[in-house]
Amino acid sequence: MKLRTSHGQRTLPGEYFESAEIWRLEQERIFRRSWLLAGHVSELTEHGSYFLHEIGNDSVVVLRDGAGKVRAFHNFCRHRGTRLCAESRGRLDNTIRCSYHAWTYGLDGTLRGAPNMQEVAGFDKASWGLKPVVLSEWRGFIFLNLAADPRPFDETLHALAGKFEHWPLSKLTSVHQTVYDVEANWKLIFHNYSECYHCPTAHPHLNKLTPYRNTENDLDEGPVLGGPMAMSNPQGSMTMHGGCCAPPFAGLTAGERSRVYYYTLFPSGFLSLHPDYVLVHRAQPLAVDRTRIVCDWYFHPDAVAAPGFDPQSAIAFWDLTNRQDWALCANAFRGVRSPAWEPGPYSELESQLAAFDRHYLQMLKKT
Ligand code: FES
Ligand SMILES: [Fe+2]
Repeated sequence: MKLRTSHGQRTLPGEYFESAEIWRLEQERIFRRSWLLAGHVSELTEHGSYFLHEIGNDSVVVLRDGAGKVRAFHNFCRHRGTRLCAESRGRLDNTIRCSYHAWTYGLDGTLRGAPNMQEVAGFDKASWGLKPVVLSEWRGFIFLNLAADPRPFDETLHALAGKFEHWPLSKLTSVHQTVYDVEANWKLIFHNYSECYHCPTAHPHLNKLTPYRNTENDLDEGPVLGGPMAMSNPQGSMTMHGGCCAPPFAGLTAGERSRVYYYTLFPSGFLSLHPDYVLVHRAQPLAVDRTRIVCDWYFHPDAVAAPGFDPQSAIAFWDLTNRQDWALCANAFRGVRSPAWEPGPYSELESQLAAFDRHYLQMLKKT
């Protein structure tokens, strides 16, 4: 097992959780350059299905077009900027129509109709389609990149290559989604997910299932951080009753079967792989002091179709844990914004937070 160390680091100074300038830099250098975990293909079941992914002032519509292709566009009208889709997910007809002056776009982004614009000299509909956003698919998960010419997905998130091959990620389907509005800066939510130092005090039930010192970090530098935790019951799962809610995924080894695997994907989400289901948190930082977390519980469609399938124990377990965590994040956020607060020392159990901060600062400083 690798030695865990936080290298004597301290937490980030308070300005990182408060400053409008740092928030602006994060938007420019982190969120508009990174690959962002936005969803899963199973959410786009039919032509016209869509969901939104929102970061700061950016809103992106991810949809399946008439030919079955997944596409992403900025969620604004090219005329005067009006937001096109208001609901966080839903189904579009064959077109997207702006509610202001009725410019109408195809699901492929082309501008189809622009009333009265034919009177404008030189106006060419072909130049005013929706602005596309680059996307990449990894094992069923959809990642977006707001940069015009991003670094390739495989170069940035190379740690994911060949990882989790025994989990049928591309086949999974979400059986439940909960959206949380957390009153905390997004980095505190990443910090919180990245350690189990708080588990004995904050999550007594979770700590019984996976005693807090059972972490074995196998990725401890870079944009993907995390590792497995051995469960007290090697046949169990992370649920209220401690057992599985579905048969374990067929391809898992006995070792994989007895652990839960936790990873942060900088800067947009968490993957938690259980023997019988996969939990995904997507982080959508909306402001320096507010983060939306979209949480999905994914199961294999065969398990979902089986008689008596009941995911409730997994849903209740993580909903409880999530709410305990968000309360802690919000509370820590209140403290670190005080002008009197000064950075505290990380324990060795917080080595992943120190690694997150190193990577974050590196990204923030890149011009
Ligand atoms: S702003 Fe959309 S049609 Fe005018
Ligand atoms: Fe927690």
